[in-house]
Amino acid sequence: PTQEPIDPVRYISNRSSGKMGRALAMEALRRGAEVTVISGPAREPLPFQAEVIFVRTALEMYEATISRFSQYDVFIGAAAVADYRVADPADEKHKRNGDIHHLELIPNPDIAKKIGEIKRPDQITVGFAAETHHLINYAREKLKKKKLDLIVANQVGGENCAFGSDYVSALMMTPQSKDEQPELIPKSELTHRVFNRISEIMGKK
Ligand code: C5P
Repeated sequence: PTQEPIDPVRYISNRSSGKMGRALAMEALRRGAEVTVISGPAREPLPFQAEVIFVRTALEMYEATISRFSQYDVFIGAAAVADYRVADPADEKHKRNGDIHHLELIPNPDIAKKIGEIKRPDQITVGFAAETHHLINYAREKLKKKKLDLIVANQVGGENCAFGSDYVSALMMTPQSKDEQPELIPKSELTHRVFNRISEIMGKK
C-alpha cells in the first residue's frame, strides 16, 4: 500500500498486505533475476537478496519507479497505490472540536499508465487489477489503457480471497488472450504462472 498523510499522525491507506509483491520478488529471485522492489509500508518482510527501496506516498513511489524504469527489462506493478492524496496535509495535528471536517482529495498519478507511455518495445510490463465486480471487463480495460503486456485480475472479497490471504482467485490476460474464468490458487502458484507467461512474452519480443 501507499500512505497519504492527513496530518503528522494520520494518513489514508488501504488493506494491501504486500504478500503478492513479496511472492513475486521471491519467484523472480528464484529464477535468477536481479530484483528491485519499490515498496510502500507493507507488513510483509522482503527478501534480503533484492534491492529494496522504501517509499511512503504514491508520489514518492511514482518518482522512484519512473526514474529507474529505463534500466529494467520487466516492470511488475503489484502495489496498491492510493488513487487520491490529501490536497493540503496539515503541519500540525488536527484537533478534535466536534465539528464536521472535510478533506479535499486530489488524484495521484497512475504509475503503470505512465510506464505504458514511456516503455520501449523490448520492455515488458505487468499489472494487477483487484476488483469486487466486473473483474474481466475492468481488467481488459486496464490492460489496454495502461498498455500492459500482461494483467493479473484478482477477485476481491469473499472468504478465500480477502486481503492478506495466501490464496487468490485470479486469472491472467494478455492483449491476444481469450477470457478465462478466475481460479482459486495459492499466491505462490500464481507467481509461478506469471513468470512462465513473462518468459513466453520475452521469447516473442
Ligand atoms: O488502481 P487500478 O485498479 O487501476 O490498478 C491497476 C494497476 O495499476 C495495478 O498494477 C496498480 O499497481 C497500478 N497502479 C499504478 N498507479 C496508480 C494506481 C494503480 O501503478 N496510481
